[in-house]
Amino acid sequence: MARKKLIAANWKMYKTPDETRAFLRDFLPLVAGHDRDEIVVCPSYVDLAAGVEAAKGSNVAVGAQNVHWKSEGAFTGEISAPMLLSVGVTHVIIGHSERRQYFGETDDTVNLRLKAALESGLTPICCVGEVLEEREAGLTDDVLRRQCVRAFHAISAKKAAKLVIAYEPVWAIGTGKTATPELAADAHAVIRREAKEAFGEEFAARLRILYGGSVKPENAAALMAQEEIDGALVGGASLDPKSFAAIVEY
Ligand code: 13P
Repeated sequence: MARKKLIAANWKMYKTPDETRAFLRDFLPLVAGHDRDEIVVCPSYVDLAAGVEAAKGSNVAVGAQNVHWKSEGAFTGEISAPMLLSVGVTHVIIGHSERRQYFGETDDTVNLRLKAALESGLTPICCVGEVLEEREAGLTDDVLRRQCVRAFHAISAKKAAKLVIAYEPVWAIGTGKTATPELAADAHAVIRREAKEAFGEEFAARLRILYGGSVKPENAAALMAQEEIDGALVGGASLDPKSFAAIVEY
């Protein structure tokens, strides 16, 4: 079954609203008319409104980098799905390894955020992936299975329809070490099997699983050639319009 690839930029803690507008001014003409893949840019919260405004009417959607599971409340520093929707955001990254490593994100909070995103109609890009010690200890498949089982807990196939997964091996993020296309494809197959367990065969066949971790213009084509790889979640190489456009056009 053909799955439309999704190429997403995760800008992490980079760029101001002015820089967001400047990026889109340069980037949009480079990908104008590109409809082979879905294109999403995920800037920081303060850039979201500027991003949505600048991308209006284009083939580029705007996503956030996190979302809280409550619609509102006394949760200083958090942001909710209705707030994201109110400024025109359509996608959201959930459970990125930097949230898990530095900000106490757990499999359980990933599950709560995922449920809230799906409930609200946002398209969640839920991140999973092993750290180097887990890979070296032969635990990659176990870690991926655990992260998926707990992320998918108590979510129905119907509710999960918009779900996107990103496989991001932590040792490949920002290190210049990319997983080989074959190694990434193996991990994706493990994730797809878990999705089949949780949501059924038809769902699993439609599920898009992105690869993230040192994706660059030079390695994008080889990664995207893998049948199991349905797009990319790009950090560093997405900050420059030419470089991100080259990845989109792999
Ligand atoms: P890099 O592309 O900089 O390795 O980052 C990957 C990532 O974390 C995307 O979410």
